[in-house]
Amino acid sequence: MNKKVNQIHLKAPGNWINDPNGFIYYKGMYHLFYQYFPYAPQWGTMHWGHAVSKDLTNWEHCGIALFPTKYEDQNGCFSGSAVEKNGKLYLYYTGVHYDKINPENIHKCPKNQFESAQLMIDSEDGFSFDNFNRKKVIIPAFTDKKTADRTHTRDPKVWRGKDAWYMVLGSKTEDNKGQLLFYRSKDLIKWEMVNRVSSKAEFGWMWECPDLFETESGSILVFSPMGFLKDGKREENQTICMPVEFEEKTCRLEFSNHFQFVDYGLDLYAPQTTLDEAGRRILIGWMRMPAAVDGKWNGMFCIPRVVEQKNGHIYFRVHPNVDQMYRRPIVSWTEAEEAGCKLSLDLKEGEMLNIGGYKIVRKGNRIYTDRTNVFEKYTDYRVKLETPEIKEGYHLDIYVEKNLIEIFINNGEYVISNIVYNLNKEIHAKLSGSFQIYTVDKK
Ligand code: FRU
Repeated sequence: MNKKVNQIHLKAPGNWINDPNGFIYYKGMYHLFYQYFPYAPQWGTMHWGHAVSKDLTNWEHCGIALFPTKYEDQNGCFSGSAVEKNGKLYLYYTGVHYDKINPENIHKCPKNQFESAQLMIDSEDGFSFDNFNRKKVIIPAFTDKKTADRTHTRDPKVWRGKDAWYMVLGSKTEDNKGQLLFYRSKDLIKWEMVNRVSSKAEFGWMWECPDLFETESGSILVFSPMGFLKDGKREENQTICMPVEFEEKTCRLEFSNHFQFVDYGLDLYAPQTTLDEAGRRILIGWMRMPAAVDGKWNGMFCIPRVVEQKNGHIYFRVHPNVDQMYRRPIVSWTEAEEAGCKLSLDLKEGEMLNIGGYKIVRKGNRIYTDRTNVFEKYTDYRVKLETPEIKEGYHLDIYVEKNLIEIFINNGEYVISNIVYNLNKEIHAKLSGSFQIYTVDKK
């Protein structure tokens, strides 16, 4: 059987994928799991699909890693993370159990009434997962509303702290505000709650996929509030990030007043970070798609990005392994294969670029994009996007492939990434300078 592979962007191997899960560099390889519905190109009973890569640029699909087997996860294995201890891989995830089953469609939960527990499973090699014998419930569903919600508590992110293991869960309070739950463990199996945290500022009603990590200049929190952008357009749920003060001993966390979107295209959601081979903090996120491509597959991931912090600003830079791939100059983008192409240029005031129908323009100190012509059918989604005020120049590195355009401004000061359909292969520019198009070397 031919192995399914992807170059640069990991895509659904068929049917449906959403969040990245269990992202880790383990035993010489990147393992990337993901939320997966293997039967149709729509969300349903969640499994964990699995892919691996040696270099973050060539991905090989490895099939299904986790699937429902227990009472607690009978209706799905929701998002979670991975850590390594003594050569073993440990996966943490949320198991869901629906209160009632819809007899006409067992894959969706009637009225969102379900119970969520946190589970773990270990593996000796990162490839074999004994779904029948090795799963353990580590945090049962909540019964006490005052502490946390029995339904909306999920997405464990686990990390090694200075003196113990830590976990953060996304959750909500009784009065419908987002909250984080922090746990500690000595052995990765027994977990005790250390603190619960919510913010003064309103960030939606539930926080999905929290991720907290250290950089050289302090801690960063990335989380995905539900019901956050209420401008009448899809999607309301958006991923934001901010520098925070975090004290491990008490798990006290101070939010900052200022937040950034991880990606100003507002299609990226539920990202996850890990450390790469060289110790860089890297992030990968789900690019939400309003419709399946060719009716066959829905869901892909962005280019892995290096997360850095400088003077309170969070940068998302193209991972060097990806950047290094685009070295072959081409005249027209028709010469490019699956990996698509990269354009680098500087935009002066009023200059613009039209990539296959997707427009990029600089006005003042912002970059504006417009996908109206390559997103025609999806009128309830946002088509015009923009950056905040830019400070560091107007250099753009644009990665283009059939269904995704990612614009890195000033090496990640801001990023705009958008899903597109039916791009044509022409590039028109109103520019004073010139630019070169690059693609990756032939395999
Ligand atoms: C985010 C999310 C997570 C959940 C998973 C279910 O997109 O809703 O909170 O674990 O997707 O597929």
